[in-house]
Amino acid sequence: VDGTGAEDQAARRDHTRQAYDRLAPVWSSTTDDGPFNGWLERPALRSLVPMPLTGTRVLDAGCGSGAQCEWLSAQGAEVVGVDLSPAMVAEARRRCRQRGTFLVADLGEPLALGPRSIDGITCSLVLHYLRDWTGGHALLRHRAPPRRVDGRLAPPPLRPTATR
Ligand SMILES: C[S@@+](CC[C@H](N)C(=O)[O-])C[C@H]1O[C@@H](n2cnc3c(N)ncnc32)[C@H](O)[C@@H]1O
Repeated sequence: VDGTGAEDQAARRDHTRQAYDRLAPVWSSTTDDGPFNGWLERPALRSLVPMPLTGTRVLDAGCGSGAQCEWLSAQGAEVVGVDLSPAMVAEARRRCRQRGTFLVADLGEPLALGPRSIDGITCSLVLHYLRDWTGGHALLRHRAPPRRVDGRLAPPPLRPTATR
């Protein structure tokens, strides 16, 4: 879908959701040990996350099947995972053994989270799906002022092949 109108954007979002619903059952098994996600992107992102996370609430925006949520949780964070794909959210919930809060939501829309209720946000390989980044900026309204962590937004570089 190449258009820029609201209908085209809705169609594009539906297409993305359907694609990731289909990928959800194999996402963890094909990315955890893959050279791009498992070896490069995830270690790079994790190296940017300020420690310690104990007592913090961290949003993983576009959480997929929950690899980052699981890691954040293991570091002591209370995790909120959000993704457009219901099947990905189901995988993330299962992977994290119900630890954390998981929501099906479009990051292009306001999230049902309280203002300043989040200490930090991670977002891996997702922003290139949002044509309008206003929603992404709106994500920041959920972020609390720096507290136990320095409240750093740690977006990894976008995957070059997926940027426009
Ligand atoms: C490349 S995957 C990355 C998943 C996960 N962050 C990871 O690193 O394994 C992109 C994810 O973004 C999600 N996504 C795409 N557009 C989205 C949107 N508008 N709102 C929320 N999630 C979205 C997809 O459903 C998919 O799970």
